[in-house]
Amino acid sequence: MISSSLTQHLLHFALLSTRTSAFQIKRHASGLATSYDYIIAGGGTSGLTVADRLTSAFPTRSVLVVEYGQLVNSSVILTPAATVPDPRYAFQIRSQPEPGLNNRSFTVTVGKIVGGCSAINAQMFDRGSAADYDAWGDVAGEEYKREGWSWEGLLPYFKKSVTFTPPAKEAVDRFGYTFDAEAAYGGNGSIQASYPPFQWQSEKLLRTAWKELGVKEQQEGAGGDAYGVFWFPSSQDPKTQTRSYGRTGHYDPVADRSNYHLLVGHKVTEVILGASDSDNSAFQARGVKIVSVDGKNASSFDVFSKQEVILAAGTIHTPGILQRSGIGPADVLKAANITTKVELPGVGQNLQDHALGNLFYNMTNNTLPGPIDMYMNRTLMEEAQRQYSQNHTGPLTLSGGNSGAFLPLSTITNTSSAIISALTAQSPSSYLPNSTHPTVLEGYSRQLDALKDLLSSNAAAVFEYPIGSGALISFLKPLSRGTVNIDPTDPLAGPLVNYRTFTNPLDLTLYQHGVKMFRRYYTTPTAQTLGPVELIPGAAVQTDEDWMKWLPKSISPSFYHPVGTAALGPKSRGGVVGPDLRVYGVGRLRVVDASVMPLIPGTHTSSTVYAVAEKAADLIIGAA
Ligand SMILES: Cc1cc2nc3c(=O)[nH]c(=O)nc-3n(C[C@H](O)[C@H](O)[C@H](O)COP(=O)(O)OP(=O)(O)OC[C@H]3O[C@@H](n4cnc5c(N)ncnc54)[C@H](O)[C@@H]3O)c2cc1C
Ligand SMILES: *[C@@H]1O[C@H](CO)[C@@H](O)[C@H](O)[C@H]1NC(C)=O
Ligand SMILES: *[C@@H]1O[C@H](CO)[C@@H](O)[C@H](O)[C@H]1NC(C)=O
Ligand SMILES: *[C@@H]1O[C@H](CO)[C@@H](O)[C@H](O)[C@H]1NC(C)=O
Ligand SMILES: *[C@@H]1O[C@H](CO)[C@@H](O)[C@H](O)[C@H]1NC(C)=O
Ligand SMILES: *[C@@H]1O[C@H](CO)[C@@H](O)[C@H](O)[C@H]1NC(C)=O
Ligand SMILES: *[C@@H]1O[C@H](CO)[C@@H](O)[C@H](O)[C@H]1NC(C)=O
Ligand SMILES: *[C@@H]1O[C@H](CO)[C@@H](O)[C@H](O)[C@H]1NC(C)=O
Ligand SMILES: *[C@@H]1O[C@H](CO)[C@@H](O)[C@H](O)[C@H]1NC(C)=O
Ligand SMILES: *[C@@H]1O[C@H](CO)[C@@H](O)[C@H](O)[C@H]1NC(C)=O
Ligand SMILES: *[C@@H]1O[C@H](CO)[C@@H](O)[C@H](O)[C@H]1NC(C)=O
Ligand SMILES: *[C@@H]1O[C@H](CO)[C@@H](O)[C@H](O)[C@H]1NC(C)=O
Repeated sequence: MISSSLTQHLLHFALLSTRTSAFQIKRHASGLATSYDYIIAGGGTSGLTVADRLTSAFPTRSVLVVEYGQLVNSSVILTPAATVPDPRYAFQIRSQPEPGLNNRSFTVTVGKIVGGCSAINAQMFDRGSAADYDAWGDVAGEEYKREGWSWEGLLPYFKKSVTFTPPAKEAVDRFGYTFDAEAAYGGNGSIQASYPPFQWQSEKLLRTAWKELGVKEQQEGAGGDAYGVFWFPSSQDPKTQTRSYGRTGHYDPVADRSNYHLLVGHKVTEVILGASDSDNSAFQARGVKIVSVDGKNASSFDVFSKQEVILAAGTIHTPGILQRSGIGPADVLKAANITTKVELPGVGQNLQDHALGNLFYNMTNNTLPGPIDMYMNRTLMEEAQRQYSQNHTGPLTLSGGNSGAFLPLSTITNTSSAIISALTAQSPSSYLPNSTHPTVLEGYSRQLDALKDLLSSNAAAVFEYPIGSGALISFLKPLSRGTVNIDPTDPLAGPLVNYRTFTNPLDLTLYQHGVKMFRRYYTTPTAQTLGPVELIPGAAVQTDEDWMKWLPKSISPSFYHPVGTAALGPKSRGGVVGPDLRVYGVGRLRVVDASVMPLIPGTHTSSTVYAVAEKAADLIIGAA
């Protein structure tokens, strides 16, 4: 056994060395080997992390990453302030009409580039509360907790995934940055976490206003205390003040490893399933079907895997790969005429995201310079560009912001116990699509139980109010659940995304308390010095009824944080992957991206994706 697999590896290695050049990027099928040890679908945030770890751990095993997008060298990607996602580098899928949002549909933006969403995100690099991750184990069960799906189990991977560089003393003095490196960091991963050398002056004032509302200040949020007001780093290289992301951290430094191939401009359409050589599952992943995305050649070709196929196409695309392979809810597959090989009702269900609200204020007495001044005034912009290019300083070093108020329900409303009673009285089946499988319903029911605890907790946030990016509000603990399924009329076309925001009516009640809190915030003495005049929604919205009408026509379903469509959990609770991230019913197939999170944490999601990917890499390496 050992010697035969060793021979196989040596042969394979020889094959690789004769067929490849030093730089391992591939643009055509012709540059590939016919088989690899590991094939990773998706060269984004999680996929590149896992590929780096595997090619390092197994110098004689080959890894192919198949990425839909291109390797893009662009200062727009690298410059922190340029955070509006470029449509060339992102999928722009139209969601289905949203019944809870007045039937509006929305653009689903996810990365389509080497590096995935980490190449286009706002670099806000925080973590959820300990309670958010402990809830994963509550939902999935004791076995998952024992296998490290908890805060305590994940913290070492959060630490491992990044290198934290404390801010310079000058920046600490100037902006008031606080941190606790010991509680939260200490690893040497190749993604950089650091604080930029610039904040707009209004930042201080906006933080003070939160404190006037009695919101607790945390010295560090990333050690499990992600509630209150706190600073968090950017995913940013402190030397060059450029974006640190999947590509710069996990691809560029290792691209010349001879066992690492990256195929760009191609998509994995499905996993090739063969008969299993173990008793545990009927099928086994044998490789993938791949199609070029340039449209010139619609034929697919096969590449085979000797060890595993690893899905890392993200929450929006991973379910489609599974469903097209015949792994998913029987009704969805049947509608698309796909033979069900493994009935797995949770695939594509359980979609969660942070619904985003945006209020608009005219700050009639704001004398402090802000980003709008920079974008409107060419002199200021040119000065900013000089500072950035000459010294890596100034406003262009600032991405989406480095602090926020993360508020538990009890700090937003004195009606939280009534809300929790209403939640307890709910019948979970009323709020999922009628076709939902009983096992998925069982999982949802467990989630609502966990959410009761999280909504009651003073140590888990229900809303985030990011500081420094306008009057945004992000709903961190949604009760509604959506779906991402293949299109039955054309399974190879884009997925059908139904966020189903506000389909659980209690979400609307919760949101109403969240926005009202924002109004109170702008009445604090410090915020008042800015002379805020609310333009949207404005004075016409006053009563609860007014809010209930305004919210469905104004809120958008996503803060770009979709998770949950291939969730961790037992099959009996709608789970798609076990604690080892293996897909039920299929050998040699795992999911490692954001879709495995069973419950959305109260944070921007990239740092959690890196931590999960590091754990995934350990599981794969440990199994070899
Ligand atoms: C605009 C935006 C702003 C954000 N802001 C922040 C932020 O400030 N802070 C934060 O923490 N998080 C943020 N996020 C979220 C965070 O970046 C994501 O949660 C995380 O990067 C997702 O990682 P992933 O590995 O699951 O998926 P991705 O990084 O999306 O990787 C999936 C990859 O798979 C590729 N792919 C898709 N289908 C296929 C296929 N069939 N075959 C081959 N390849 C395929 C895609 O092109 C992509 O590269 C933001 C996201 C976006 C889009
Ligand atoms: C893009 O960047 C890579 C890695 O930094 C480099 O090797 C390559 O030459 C660059 N390509 C172009 C076209 O600049
Ligand atoms: C949304 O569409 C559904 C189905 O077409 C319809 O019944 C409902 O009234 C619409 N809702 C709104 C608010 O327009
Ligand atoms: C990073 O940390 C790991 C684990 O502690 C250690 O084995 C490795 O040598 C470190 N690498 C560097 C470059 O310090
Ligand atoms: C199209 O792609 C298929 C699969 O890789 C290949 O066999 C075929 O030769 C290609 N056709 C052309 C015209 O390039
Ligand atoms: C904002 O306030 C200023 C100063 O009072 C005023 O001149 C301007 O018209 C206002 N803008 C809007 C959009 O109301
Ligand atoms: C732009 O900014 C510069 C530098 O602060 C200032 O002198 C100038 O008046 C501004 N121009 C406009 C049109 O506001
Ligand atoms: C860059 O830094 C140097 C040294 O501190 C300073 O003299 C210079 O003015 C800075 N350049 C810009 C554009 O701010
Ligand atoms: C609850 O809060 C509201 C609005 O902030 C206030 O009017 C009301 O008196 C409070 N009720 C109790 C019981 O404290
Ligand atoms: C779903 O079920 C509910 C109650 O069982 C029913 O009122 C509703 O009409 C059903 N909806 C659909 C689309 O079948
Ligand atoms: C599925 O099969 C049915 C019946 O043969 C056909 O009407 C339908 O168009 C097929 N759908 C797809 C997506 O191929
Ligand atoms: C307007 O802003 C200035 C500068 O911050 C401040 O001194 C003044 O008190 C503010 N005016 C009001 C009415 O708050």
